[in-house]
Amino acid sequence: MNKKIKYIFYITVIATFMTCDKIKKNTVESPTKTEEIEKKVDSLLKLMTIEEKVGQMNQYNGFWDVTGPVPDDGDAEMKYEHLKQGLVGSMLSVRGAKAVRAVQKIVVEDSRLGIPLIIGFDVIHGYKTLSPIPLAEAASWDLEAIERSAQVAAAEASAAGINWTFAPMVDISRDPRWGRVMEGAGEDPFLGSKIAVARVKGFQGNDLSDVNTIAACAKHFAAYGFSEAGKEYNTVDVGNSTLHNMVLPPFKAAVDIGVKTLMNGFNELDGVPVTGSSYLLRDILKDKWGFKGFVVSDWASIRELVVWGYAKDNRDAAKIASIAGSDMDMESHIYVTELVQLVRDGVVKEAVIDDAVSRILTVKFELGLFDDPYKYCDESREKEVIGSPKHMEAVLDVAKKSIVLLKNEEQLLPLKKEGQKIALIGALANENNSPLGSWRIASKDSTAVSILTGMQAYKGNTLVYKKGTDVTVGNAEFVNEISVNTNDKSEFDQAINAAKEADVVVLVLGEHGFQSGEGRSRTDLGLPGLQQELLEEVYKVNKKIVLVLNNGRPLTISWADKHIPAIVEAWQLGTQTGHAVAQVLYGDYNPSGKLPMTFPRNVGQIPIYYNYKNTGRPVLDKNNPNLVFWSHYSDIENTPLYPFGYGLSYTTFEYAKLTLDKRVYAINEEVNITVDVSNTGKLAGKEVVQLYIRDLVGSVTRPVKELKGFELVTLEVGETKTVEFTLNKESLGFYNNKGEFLLELGDFEIFVGGSSYTKLTSSFELK
Ligand code: NOJ
Repeated sequence: MNKKIKYIFYITVIATFMTCDKIKKNTVESPTKTEEIEKKVDSLLKLMTIEEKVGQMNQYNGFWDVTGPVPDDGDAEMKYEHLKQGLVGSMLSVRGAKAVRAVQKIVVEDSRLGIPLIIGFDVIHGYKTLSPIPLAEAASWDLEAIERSAQVAAAEASAAGINWTFAPMVDISRDPRWGRVMEGAGEDPFLGSKIAVARVKGFQGNDLSDVNTIAACAKHFAAYGFSEAGKEYNTVDVGNSTLHNMVLPPFKAAVDIGVKTLMNGFNELDGVPVTGSSYLLRDILKDKWGFKGFVVSDWASIRELVVWGYAKDNRDAAKIASIAGSDMDMESHIYVTELVQLVRDGVVKEAVIDDAVSRILTVKFELGLFDDPYKYCDESREKEVIGSPKHMEAVLDVAKKSIVLLKNEEQLLPLKKEGQKIALIGALANENNSPLGSWRIASKDSTAVSILTGMQAYKGNTLVYKKGTDVTVGNAEFVNEISVNTNDKSEFDQAINAAKEADVVVLVLGEHGFQSGEGRSRTDLGLPGLQQELLEEVYKVNKKIVLVLNNGRPLTISWADKHIPAIVEAWQLGTQTGHAVAQVLYGDYNPSGKLPMTFPRNVGQIPIYYNYKNTGRPVLDKNNPNLVFWSHYSDIENTPLYPFGYGLSYTTFEYAKLTLDKRVYAINEEVNITVDVSNTGKLAGKEVVQLYIRDLVGSVTRPVKELKGFELVTLEVGETKTVEFTLNKESLGFYNNKGEFLLELGDFEIFVGGSSYTKLTSSFELK
């Protein structure tokens, strides 16, 4: 079909939609937007050939920015031809208003039906202006700030032509060896669900067709965060109770709030690679939860069904994945080559294809791409929006809120603003690349504010900077982890001398931004390279040390906890890192973050998490202190170094008057709880007040603690606030091993405080 005819055809299709709408409007009451879109999708589906339908299920990577292995036949020329033939429904990693317009133009003008592409991209913690890595953001427990951060990301990405982000990652994980914990919200399904909702709302807004919103993608469905031994892409073997109570809730929360897409994981679950799991994708997601959006595979995960030994060849893989409910093939190039014939042979029903294509087209209609395929390709908007001062302010705000104060003896912090000689030590202190983390495809390298720059903004002190030692050798992005650590001590002396002469030493140590993230699992979670040695050498000459950690996961820092008076967890905080850290160190922001993941004492304790099970032998028998037979290690205590929910402030808080409105509740009643929280210190501050429950007896054993509520409260000096919590059926129930939600009568304990190790308790009965 030549271009002119194609245009007439395209316009006729649109006119048909509009006529349908008019008829409907004139006869009965006006249809909802959803009904209108359903009609349009149905009409369009009728016009499509089987090849064009399968084309919608095919997603290619752009011609650059490969984020995974590309098949041999993944050349640009072939992709270009397929775009023209209408055999591509989506591209990922094409970016920039101009580039997206160019690629949309190919399908809109050259393909028979001109169906616009949906452009996907890993907008993980920002597009160009970067917020903290998601694990850090989770430490803020500030849902408004997290939603705002996702809004900023959506505004910038949409201005660069992007319609869809592969975020949020809502994988719960208990294993900091797994490099991708940096991309999630930590270990807890309650906090994880709240954050999933905030991020989906931030990305998608109230109306997906708004020019500054993008579709979100809850990933990786499901249980990828439970890779055995924290080793990337490894087998997953979780039981049903963990699956339903720990893994699935954040996905369900995302679906309930209207997330438009989900992504498969690379993992298997109970012997079935999740990309081919009809139990997860059909039975749970689409049938039980009623998910109306579409599922995209992870990069080449359909092809990997063959490698797993679950499909015998590509044709088999296409059959399994499509029937299971994976609607779009990311970079396996298998749907596009195999599905048409599978339908012709009657192996895959056309209804399976129609269902997948309808889901994909629906999201495209919702984004407004059929109204104007170029609506996200406005270059002047792109210039104006990306990196705007408003965005810089928003990411600085969430960066400060993400910092967690782990230790502060002798009130070493906040630093005095005048008359001090400060030695700033560590390669990471002078880094403007590492703070961007490993997910920053669209951001320019080395564009973060370094901690050195942030500290230099405070002019009242004398600041001396010395590197001491590097963290890694060479280009951190591509080095093989095994050979990454440096052994160069040549600059130790300079650092030690600077420390000797300083009033206070600020040591910035930890991981380079490229030491966590996909494909970056580690077994040693101590400070990489010679940093631990540097820390100990500096400590010998000056004990007034503030250790600032930069890292993408919990680290094992037992020595530092024992010796160093002040420790600040500053993660990788994105574009505004240096200013955020300096403002916290100097007390212009009073830290309020709380850990979203347990810090182990050593790697041998992993997995260690707060919501563990009691076991049949939980405590040492007090009458028999020599008893061996209880659940413990003989070389280290059971507690973590820092528990989930833990974090200090420059002020102090006290909890009192934990009150319940009753002692005994009927099954339909709500449990109303109040607690008084007071600021007993000398500075205004914010506290995350946390509520935990323990269901004492269950038909499936319950954890010793489960987070069920939290509230971020701001308190002036001397102020007391009464914080209210309500527990209802939803918070008191749990899933049995069949995935059925139950509420069981019996006794409950509650715990309220500023961490999961809180002592203030009460109890009630559900009768
Ligand atoms: C693989 C990752 O697992 C996934 O999270 C990401 O969105 C895709 N690559 C696309 O880059």
